[in-house]
Amino acid sequence: MAWSPDKTTVNSWNEWDPLRHVIVGRADDCHIPPEEPALDAKVPEDSDMRGQWGKRPQETIDRANELLDKFADQLRARGVKVDRPTPIDHSLPVTTPDFHTASQFGCMPPRDVLLTVGSEILEATMSYRCRWFEYLNYRPLMQQYWEEDPKFRHEAAPKPRLTDADYHPDYLSEKIGVEKRLQWAAEKFFVTTEEEPLFDAADVLRFGRDLVVQHGFTTNLKGIEWLRRHFPDHRVHTVNFPGDPYPIHIDATFTPLRPGLILNNPQRRLPDDQREMFHKNGWEIVDSAQPAHNQPPPLCYSSVWLSMNVLVLDPKTVCVEKSEVYQADQMDKLGLEVVEVDLRDAYAFGGGLHCSTADVYREGGCEDYFP
Ligand code: NVA
Repeated sequence: MAWSPDKTTVNSWNEWDPLRHVIVGRADDCHIPPEEPALDAKVPEDSDMRGQWGKRPQETIDRANELLDKFADQLRARGVKVDRPTPIDHSLPVTTPDFHTASQFGCMPPRDVLLTVGSEILEATMSYRCRWFEYLNYRPLMQQYWEEDPKFRHEAAPKPRLTDADYHPDYLSEKIGVEKRLQWAAEKFFVTTEEEPLFDAADVLRFGRDLVVQHGFTTNLKGIEWLRRHFPDHRVHTVNFPGDPYPIHIDATFTPLRPGLILNNPQRRLPDDQREMFHKNGWEIVDSAQPAHNQPPPLCYSSVWLSMNVLVLDPKTVCVEKSEVYQADQMDKLGLEVVEVDLRDAYAFGGGLHCSTADVYREGGCEDYFP
């Protein structure tokens, strides 16, 4: 399928083939949502996020938008077509017959909501109540793609009910402490229950015929089974990272860079029994470099490991956040050209370079890397 900048074609099978068309999020009207079970479980007990909610300070929104706009321009300058979402009013509550929450989240980061597999873009169920309507930010683009690309499959996973039955109250009842969280993560006891299928798109990594999915706070086993049934031509693998006390979204934990090479967060090692498919097929899993920072920026949900949340432009070129000097150095040693992107002041809006984007078109087809 030939790519043209004038008319959308949706096609992306992995995280590294040459990127030609991408969505970059916006920080407009982003809110810190009120307390709710899934979100509370993710916020560390000593975080500055605890106990506050409402619209984020306007100057931080403006600064994040400035950086996201520059990132979009950098991508355009390298020949990548960039689309942007249309923000809805995130101050509006989310009310369904099953729950109510007083505000939404934002239209960052797109990677959490949209999963591109071949010619399909799938809207994830999501697992936070405040993110239930987040797909609406992307609907104008989805409609446009649908008009322009006759092969585009626009899909939406069944909206979950997100009643209290979806969440284990143990995660909410007390100051839990990191030790307990690590024990629970090792036991695969997460805040979400198996009431109904739940997944966030950012728990999925695409390796051609294989999808690797993190089981954790935001994706449960039924969500993974739903993906398995939805993509019958794929092999869907469940992975866990027991060193992560807040396991949401795989892309600051396990980062494929090119066929045969993956970075793994050294504090969140993939267990030996789950490495087999990679090793058997000659893939190397290397520890990522240390982050350059000891703390995330203010009002940020994510950890310092956004250092490894890189965006691969092609198997020889990778975007790395400008302040992440150790990560950039490691990329250099691994033989990749590094494109520096200034994005740290946008981290608080939901993540790094991979999070802030969603694939529309990468060259190449569906390969089998694990025959
Ligand atoms: N679990 C992640 C989210 C990264 C996108 C973290 O390290 O905060």
